[in-house]
Amino acid sequence: MDVIKINGGIPLKGSIQVSGSKNSTLPLMAASLLTPENLILSNIPHLLDIVTMCNLLVNHGVKLTLDGSNLSNKYSGRTLLLNGSSITNFLAPYDIVRKMRASVLVLGPLLARFGQAKVSLPGGCAIGTRPIDIHIDALKEMGAQINLCSGYVEATCDGNLKGAKINFSKASVGATENILMAAALAEGRTIITNAAREPEIIDLANCLNAMGAKITGAGESKIEITGVKELHGASHKVIADRIEAATYAIAAIITGGEITLKGITLDLLDNIIAELEECGAKITKTKDGIKIKGPKVIKPVNVITEPFPGFSTDFQAQFMALMCVANGESTITENIFENRFMHVGELQRMGAEINVAGSSAHVTGIKRFKGAQVMATDLRASVSLVLAGLVAEGETTINRVYHIDRGYEHVEEKLASCGANIYRIKNL
Ligand code: EPZ
Repeated sequence: MDVIKINGGIPLKGSIQVSGSKNSTLPLMAASLLTPENLILSNIPHLLDIVTMCNLLVNHGVKLTLDGSNLSNKYSGRTLLLNGSSITNFLAPYDIVRKMRASVLVLGPLLARFGQAKVSLPGGCAIGTRPIDIHIDALKEMGAQINLCSGYVEATCDGNLKGAKINFSKASVGATENILMAAALAEGRTIITNAAREPEIIDLANCLNAMGAKITGAGESKIEITGVKELHGASHKVIADRIEAATYAIAAIITGGEITLKGITLDLLDNIIAELEECGAKITKTKDGIKIKGPKVIKPVNVITEPFPGFSTDFQAQFMALMCVANGESTITENIFENRFMHVGELQRMGAEINVAGSSAHVTGIKRFKGAQVMATDLRASVSLVLAGLVAEGETTINRVYHIDRGYEHVEEKLASCGANIYRIKNL
């Protein structure tokens, strides 16, 4: 397995091209199952999770080509052509789904277009049990017959799914995406209330509408979908990755540097800008992105994670690393996942002063992290260790970096291009 080594203390200066959004690309790729025509997605990020989704879709019979070259060649391009004209297999196997829970996003499309799907339950992960009951209950309300058997969701429906009025008990991102895609081909009208409002939901709805769907209200908590008989192909550019962008914004702040993030717009960072400015960052618009200048002294800020447009849970670990070296005390409360403090123990190994009580972590700012050997556990926890390493005294070695590679494209190259002393040792 690869390790990443960082020698901290260098203020980062330079610019970083923000990649396409992982959490938008994954549902968009699943949407290729809804049509026999070509779906062309551009601005695709080079990430492990995208390769996993490619493997899953190829397993179903989707034909994939990348920048015109066949996917079996090098994974070099950023434009993916997907064609779902010959779907032969409706099984999403455990050995793929367990690697990436977003695989459950094939459930709605397969059911809507083919009336059948057998998808492995994703199981839990480091940050929580991650059930999919909201997805399943909603599909049942649309007329699906669903059995849970030997770790699989076995779903069928006689004829088409039927439109329904669906209220989500939690504003689930994945469930909103699954039902958007299922309802696009259902008979009649579907209304989702308490829908997730993330920008990735809007991006998916925009792509589905370009394919001929009739969706209004995406980005609000009430979404209406009028089903159509079939969907056609489309070309769609994936939005920028707001979580990657926020991560590098925090890198600028924590190192007291100045980074220009290209390819991101301020509106995609609406739900963290205020907190970053409260820490003392200066954030300005540039012609092709935003510039973040870190303060001399980082001010402590309390945050509570909430469904969008609240402070995203996916920013929490990165923000905690920043608060560990703020000038004072702060409290970080995690309301979305039950176990998303896996980074606390690792940050403490680097000298952080954090006390966890239930869903809150109380952080007392220290002068400086101390470099150490640390272990990545989940995607965002891992990158919080990179942020800590960038300002630590001495060397930090991060093990199990495949977690980072799932969601951050060429992380060490992007940071090194801004002056960080960071490098990867392959296959240690
Ligand atoms: C998406 O996960 C994101 N993943 C996550 O990002 C993100 O943290 C999460 O939304 C919350 O915003 C992708 O988009 C691929 P949820 P998802 O359904 O859809 C509970 C990252 O780091 N819930 O919005 O799986 C669930 O347990 C990843 O990029 C149910 O109880 O999350 C959680 O407490 C991590 N039943 C809450 O809802 C369900 O059927 C929100 O989960 C579904 C969810």
